[in-house]
Amino acid sequence: MFALDIIVKKRNGEKLTKEEIKYFIDGYTNGGIPDYQASAFLMATYFKGMDAEETLWLTEAMLHSGDVVDLSCIPGIKVDKHSTGGVGDKTTLVIAPIVASCGVPVAKMSGRGLGHTGGTIDKLESIPGFRTSLSPTEFIANVKEIGIAVAGQTGNLAPADKKLYALRDVTGTVEDVSLIAASIMSKKLASGSDAIVLDVKIGSGAFMKSFEDARKLARTMVDIGHGAGKKTIAILTDMDRPLGNNIGNALEVSEAVEVLKGKGGDDLREVCIELAANMLFLAGKCDIEACRKQVIDAIDNRTALNKLIQMVERQGGDPKAIEDTTRLPQASVKVEWKSDMSGYIEKMHAEKLGIASLILGAGRKNKDDVIDPSAGIVLCKKPGDKVEAGQTLAILHTSDNERVMEALYVLKTAISISKTPVPRNPLILGKVQ
Ligand code: URA
Repeated sequence: MFALDIIVKKRNGEKLTKEEIKYFIDGYTNGGIPDYQASAFLMATYFKGMDAEETLWLTEAMLHSGDVVDLSCIPGIKVDKHSTGGVGDKTTLVIAPIVASCGVPVAKMSGRGLGHTGGTIDKLESIPGFRTSLSPTEFIANVKEIGIAVAGQTGNLAPADKKLYALRDVTGTVEDVSLIAASIMSKKLASGSDAIVLDVKIGSGAFMKSFEDARKLARTMVDIGHGAGKKTIAILTDMDRPLGNNIGNALEVSEAVEVLKGKGGDDLREVCIELAANMLFLAGKCDIEACRKQVIDAIDNRTALNKLIQMVERQGGDPKAIEDTTRLPQASVKVEWKSDMSGYIEKMHAEKLGIASLILGAGRKNKDDVIDPSAGIVLCKKPGDKVEAGQTLAILHTSDNERVMEALYVLKTAISISKTPVPRNPLILGKVQ
């Protein structure tokens, strides 16, 4: 077999075989196939596409390019959740303890933020002392003993994806449904869970800007999950506005805790209940309505909050910072941004809000940038809300006064106000199973 023949075949729009795809992915991962041929392969795939079978073979080849976590020593059905990324998306911090407190083990590996989207690991690390780097033995022991562990990805999970994603980033080949689906699902499948709930975001703050593209991505990922023998469901959720009111690491932990205390963040609560209920459903707990009720009960009776406190303590964090979130890192500079007109919030461009938060110090432009855990934005209004001139729209949090002007410059283009009432759009936009 030759890499060139595989590239030419795809360039001509022909279907590749499982063996050809495996040959190419293995060859690229071990260095036998150079970047220039992999770039050509990616571009050919971008233009000619892959069908469902090829996409599954690509995912399997990427999944088996490295370690596959074995969670079989943990009793019960392990359900993972993945979000395609957004602004203010702190759902893992809420959902993982809810699901664990309902008796379904959560062995979750998460990533860091890059660009305008945040990452669960950065959020957790804003809790004083919290360790996200766990050895495989410690990770599994925690799940066995307290039902939950959330850690950064360790070891050699899907190394083909790591190399290919970096190459896609610089060759204009990120935005292809097959390539995105194989990238996400290879990592999810390598993480060893029995079932997967996918939160596919749609809108200005998401990868997929239109409902149709998001539904196509969801369908492709769910088919891959089924093809790999895992129960998989995708929930389509709105990311045209940020999720919840807080953007930024410690601020998001604080908001997640509020939801677990049964307060605040109605939109965040709604999405979390839906995702957690679907995780319980895939774990075979009960029908979906009864699962929703179990989730709400776990919030109301505080078992989910207590589970978060237990996890924080087990991973070296200060549990008092969860009981009293004013003990989380606090920004030294807080600036109120006031509305100069009255009306109704019409649009909140999620990506721009994510960028403004990054400017304040909450995110990374490059993967080695150091983040400020206390930085970010607290939104005081959301789309549909009435606002009077002079009322606060948002509070900017930072440790660096110099960043405020630049962040405000971006913020001013992120929010539009209408003179007439604006309807509130639904958050849960569909389900693919
Ligand atoms: N997230 C991933 O992990 N991979 C992609 O290709 C896109 C988003």
